[in-house]
Amino acid sequence: MTARIGVIGSNMVDLVTTVDRMPRLGETLAAPAFAIGPGGKGANQAAAAAKLGADVLMVSRVGDDLFGAETLRNFAALGIDARHVRAVPGTSNGVAPIFVDRNGDNSILIVKGANDHLLPADVDEAVPDLLGCDLLLLQLEIPLDTVYHAIDWAHAHDKPVLLNPAPATEALSLDRIAAVDLLMPNQTELSILTGMPAGTRSEAEAAARHLLARGMGRVVVTLGANGALLVTPNETWHVPPVPVRARDTSGAGDAFIGAFAAHYVRHKDMHAALGQASLYAAHSVTRPGTQTAFASRDEFTAFCLEQAPPKGAD
Ligand code: RIB
Repeated sequence: MTARIGVIGSNMVDLVTTVDRMPRLGETLAAPAFAIGPGGKGANQAAAAAKLGADVLMVSRVGDDLFGAETLRNFAALGIDARHVRAVPGTSNGVAPIFVDRNGDNSILIVKGANDHLLPADVDEAVPDLLGCDLLLLQLEIPLDTVYHAIDWAHAHDKPVLLNPAPATEALSLDRIAAVDLLMPNQTELSILTGMPAGTRSEAEAAARHLLARGMGRVVVTLGANGALLVTPNETWHVPPVPVRARDTSGAGDAFIGAFAAHYVRHKDMHAALGQASLYAAHSVTRPGTQTAFASRDEFTAFCLEQAPPKGAD
């Protein structure tokens, strides 16, 4: 049977403005370009996994508006099982105004809208389908109580959980997330979670070890252009970066996690899955947008061959 990934999380519509610089307070400034596309950390991770051929179940809430309808259409186009994605009457869809500068770096605002209405009871309602999942992906753009409830349910039913603690919040209780098998923060999120510096590789490792001591199974710290760091009770392994020219880094962390999940549920090989995730995320930053930047399986295969041509190839 095909391995299945369950994503209990957010969806947004990304409103992406390319800027030369951010306007000052009170200033009106012309910007060179604008685009709309599907986003949200949960939906992005689901989309990356689905584009790579994974079987994905999504549990989410959309708005009672045009963006909500468009989000449902996008899930259908990606082949994601969206039977547990419902519209919340009288509520707007989640939206994310994103500003991307000439270096490809981004600033993101989120208006959670319907995502704030994904409640613990909605997880319970999805249980018959969640029971068929081999891995659950969670992020923090839905109510924390829902995240805690999903972790508790997964723990009681022996379902592995990957938690991406993004966006970071000091309100997250380390005790309530101690049962997660795999935590995947970036350096900023790791620092906020632990109250420790995480700017260098050795600082990130020390902060990750602090989380292992609190009960978490394994920690993968994404290091942006510097790759990623796997920290377990028995090893520290640096996932090497893939050098590319970044055009837009928005959603790169989601590309990494979705690709990791797609590979990991199929092959159960942590190191190989992290290597694939690093390649997939690197490819995603060479194109604009979040989900719109994520490669299909064929595009990704071609990119991997360019990075490491088989012996004897030109
Ligand atoms: O991680 C990138 C995502 O963060 C964007 O797609 C935006 O919607 C916000 O959720």
